[in-house]
Amino acid sequence: MQDYLTVADLDPAGMERVLDRAVALRAARDRALADGGPLVDDVLKGRSVALVFEKPSLRTRASFQVAVHELGGHPLPMWDFEVGLGKRETIADTGKVLAGYVQAIVLRTFGQERLVELADAADVPVINALSDHEHPCQALADLQTCREEFTSLAGRTLTYVGDGNNVAHSLLLACALAGMNVRVVHPDGYAPDALVVAEAEGLASGSEVVVTTDVAAVAGSDVVYTDVWASMGQEDEAEERKALFAPYQVDEQLMRDTTDDAIFLHCLPAHRGEEVAAAVIDGPRSRVFQQAENRLHAQKALLVELLGD
Ligand code: CP
Ligand code: NVA
Repeated sequence: MQDYLTVADLDPAGMERVLDRAVALRAARDRALADGGPLVDDVLKGRSVALVFEKPSLRTRASFQVAVHELGGHPLPMWDFEVGLGKRETIADTGKVLAGYVQAIVLRTFGQERLVELADAADVPVINALSDHEHPCQALADLQTCREEFTSLAGRTLTYVGDGNNVAHSLLLACALAGMNVRVVHPDGYAPDALVVAEAEGLASGSEVVVTTDVAAVAGSDVVYTDVWASMGQEDEAEERKALFAPYQVDEQLMRDTTDDAIFLHCLPAHRGEEVAAAVIDGPRSRVFQQAENRLHAQKALLVELLGD
């Protein structure tokens, strides 16, 4: 794997390797924290990773910065106002210049084509830290959280409820790769991209891929997942979406139809009273803060997969 622009850049064996390593890295870090042992490894010793953000971030930027640091490397965070990707200079020129300094580039941006353009120009790995189309690093942490809960992923069912957005796309592909059943329950007019659904169906070997507007599809799920109703860049649509999305709020009533040991996930940031009821996200089934912490471990595992020996 040269770049990680989409979940589909991993094959099933690669996904398993990354998840195995993420779980092991978390355990090792927990032991080090308990013993007062060192947290910093030397896998990326002397190497630098650029972190370029064209949209706001808490988790992704902080977890990548700490991930590179804990692997012994040097993180180089940069924001749009200084880089001016495609505005101050071309995306290709930026990629070629950065590749002369750093050993990988992490980019949060708008259109997926911006990542592809950067990756084509830069001869170092490029990692998608969220685009309008996908959030593939998030999906790794999500599946890590499911692995920690259920040990094995095969045959488990994850149901995403809400907008057929970047997070939904990456979950469709990731669950299909990992042998999980995946369902996307969306309001009319907000389905995931049909091409991504077809891709997930192609990746799934035996597991189900279901896309529906019927919230009854949540029945029997092991994992219920939701995300904001209006993503970054869609703020103008937030009010109009509220009425349409209201029947899709993940509340205690909706969670009642899941399995007894079902968990709730959300990539965060969350809006209590909109896509999720406070009783669910702050309740006993919620694993959202473990999930957020797993961004660190999963991205360390991804960096080792891309840059390690
Ligand atoms: N989940 C996630 O990507 O959070 P940030 O937008 O804060 O990075
Ligand atoms: N779908 C959301 C995810 C935020 C982590 C967005 O793109 O804003």
